[in-house]
Amino acid sequence: MDLKKRRKILEKKKTIHDLIKRASSIVDPLSPFDSFRRYRKNDLSVYLESGRGDRLSSSMKQYIRKLLKMNMEVFYGSDWPIQAKAKRQEMSSADAHYIFVRELSYGKAYETSTRGISIKGCNQIAGFVHYRFTLEEEIPVLYVYEIQLESRIQGKGLGEFLMQLIELIASKNRMGAIVLTVQTSNALAMTFYMSKLGYRISSISPSKANLLTFSAKYEILCKTFDSEAKSVLEKIDEEPTKD
Ligand SMILES: CC(C)(COP(=O)(O)OP(=O)(O)OC[C@H]1O[C@@H](n2cnc3c(N)ncnc32)[C@H](O)[C@@H]1OP(=O)(O)O)[C@@H](O)C(=O)NCCC(=O)NCCS
Repeated sequence: MDLKKRRKILEKKKTIHDLIKRASSIVDPLSPFDSFRRYRKNDLSVYLESGRGDRLSSSMKQYIRKLLKMNMEVFYGSDWPIQAKAKRQEMSSADAHYIFVRELSYGKAYETSTRGISIKGCNQIAGFVHYRFTLEEEIPVLYVYEIQLESRIQGKGLGEFLMQLIELIASKNRMGAIVLTVQTSNALAMTFYMSKLGYRISSISPSKANLLTFSAKYEILCKTFDSEAKSVLEKIDEEPTKD
């Protein structure tokens, strides 16, 4: 490879690395999207807060563990103990960004109070999103590690709203795609991402990457925002050549 080409590749790598570093260091990625801090629909009234993995309180860690077990154990079956351990470690990483969903249990009082913010902490947590800015096949992506809502607030449009917000955060930080992993046994989540939100099975998903030895119980889904990300993460299988 000639020197000029090599320098160009290194420059591109550095730009991408800087992009991820900058995005990861933002204290509150929700701040450009103030109108998304509240969701009021279908008898649900919640607000959203940002958080970081290395700043979780022990009660928050306990809550996350409980909700993960409640929502996900059934989909992992006998793999759950190993998965639970991995998720416990991932949860507290400094790279982990969170959106916490808090229910406005003080309803009207909150609306009318000029000191609304001061009662924020009293409101009950009802779910969260864990996401990271990272690299996938050299493409800068926002990876959704978890989106978990308590059962009583599911099916009310909040998941779609949160994923719209995630798209805005990804675009604002110039990520090429959103990537996430779903257990194939989690049929509702598969429908949610693929039919409702237009995600596709990525070419890096086990089912696409290695058809012959496919045994994985999960798919990697993606939504791409530019042609480079599309060409890498949504590579179209080549037609077999006819002799
Ligand atoms: C998956 C999840 C984030 C979706 O959020 P949500 O707020 O329930 O979904 P929305 O109300 O925005 O969208 C509902 C659609 O998602 C799907 N869906 C997924 N889970 C659902 C649930 N528990 N109840 C109702 N619909 C659900 C349906 O296809 C539904 O389509 P419809 O509106 O045409 O009926 C949420 O249900 C959840 O936290 N589930 C448990 C944890 C989980 O599976 N997380 C995903 C792991 S990859």
